[in-house]
Amino acid sequence: MTDKAFYITTPIYYVNAEPHIGTAYTTFAADVLARFMRLDGRSVYFLTGTDEHGQKVEKSAQDAGIDPQTFVDQQCEHFKRMSDKFDFTNDDFIRTTEPRHKKAAEAFWHKLVDNGQIYKDVYKGWYSVRDESFYAEDELVEGKAPTGADVAWVEEPSYFFKLSEWTQPLLDFYEKNPDFIAPKGRRNEVVSFVKSGLRDLSVSRSSFKWGIPVPGDPDHVMYVWVEALPNYITALGYPDVESEKFQKFWAESLHLVGKDILRFHAVYWPALCMAAGLTPPKRVFAHGWWTNEGQKISKSLGNVINPFDLVETYGLDQVRYFLMREVPFGSDGDFSLQALKNRINSDLANDLGNLVQRVLSFAFKTCDAKVPTPNAFEDVDIALLDQLPPLMTKLRELADHQEIHKMCEAIWALISACNRYIDAQQPWSLKKTDPERMNTVLWVLIDVIRQIGILVASIVPGASAKILDQLAIPMDERTFAHLEHKIQGGHPIHEPTGIFPRIVD
Ligand code: MSP
Repeated sequence: MTDKAFYITTPIYYVNAEPHIGTAYTTFAADVLARFMRLDGRSVYFLTGTDEHGQKVEKSAQDAGIDPQTFVDQQCEHFKRMSDKFDFTNDDFIRTTEPRHKKAAEAFWHKLVDNGQIYKDVYKGWYSVRDESFYAEDELVEGKAPTGADVAWVEEPSYFFKLSEWTQPLLDFYEKNPDFIAPKGRRNEVVSFVKSGLRDLSVSRSSFKWGIPVPGDPDHVMYVWVEALPNYITALGYPDVESEKFQKFWAESLHLVGKDILRFHAVYWPALCMAAGLTPPKRVFAHGWWTNEGQKISKSLGNVINPFDLVETYGLDQVRYFLMREVPFGSDGDFSLQALKNRINSDLANDLGNLVQRVLSFAFKTCDAKVPTPNAFEDVDIALLDQLPPLMTKLRELADHQEIHKMCEAIWALISACNRYIDAQQPWSLKKTDPERMNTVLWVLIDVIRQIGILVASIVPGASAKILDQLAIPMDERTFAHLEHKIQGGHPIHEPTGIFPRIVD
């Protein structure tokens, strides 16, 4: 247990579209890590929110026939609803149209100007509104952005950030901080991109109005990415970098992002931070993209997955577990209903649900709704009980590296060990042949189920609460610090109810 701070962020989501599987995915992952660190006694700040300025959002508001502010106020509610419906434990929800953000973005801009990092010129080049990104001629693929988005030729007065000057400092920074970009493969991509040389970055737009005006030149609004990235420091109280919150959390920051926006976070953002006299964030982790039944997800294909519907149909823990377990965090993955159902039935209903249900129901009936008192332990009992310390060491290490799928695997290995122990020890037969041994076996199982109830709390919080409620574990004894406690003989068991129903087609 440690009281070290932990700051975790999701990207702030564009409000032009409603939440989809991609936006829900990052927040689920961030929520798992935030909960894990809190359970481990760390002081956590978990930030999510919405990116509300820029040409794309302005255009969507125009298409909807409403003024941009009313549009973003409405759309933002869908993302706030995600926190409510999905029990996200974010400590803050930032909107880039809030006054606190305007103040921070302006102060950040001033710092760049004061440090001689900004100059005025004319931008002539390609721009993709969908990506909110500038592209050089040699980046285009068959007349489109490398992402497949349409581009348009733009010529407008613009302020520029002297990004090219930061090529070598960035390379030095990556070298000194080998864990700054993860996974490793992505780090290599970023390093080669930077090695190929960086061009100065256009950081303002003057052909539309929906943005934060450039201080001192209201004909320009800040480029949406340069305005949005500082949201991560706005939430910590920037420009007051001496504040307790900023001092405590900024040095421990982890940005979770999708692979498509890694360049903004791992190149532009650390360069901007250094240019503004700030230490860059501690780490940026890029996750992969989901396809749907083998196909790229897109509005035009009509195969966008609505996370609210999915959770409504299959359950919150079920969807959360599937997203975290099915695909190695960092890799691309395919979503399929069959795979979701398989995971629910095998890992959740069979492995975890059945384990808890059959042990607790049997103990409830056989031992008068109380935990039995154990007798002398045998080697098999001790072997199962001894799995906890190395498992915790492993889980902490995996969480520190955002290997969420492996965290699930490691916990489920303990669940499988319990199931094998039951098969070998046959507590139901012991009832007749050796009730004293049955008491010991049940005690071991119940205590390990209590540990499992605590261990799964970050992955499937609903099931965790049910398990620990059935075992009448007080609310303040449900953290990792309580794992080593032992449940006492005579402790009550509440009447067990099923945790994960099987899905029958
Ligand atoms: N507003 C910017 C982020 C600014 S952060 C300072 C943005 N917003 S977004 O709404 O487009 O967010 C998209 C997030 O969803 C990205 O992290 C992106 O990788 C993720 N995904 C979008 N589609 C996805 C999948 N099909 N699969 C997984 N994640 C995907 O970008």
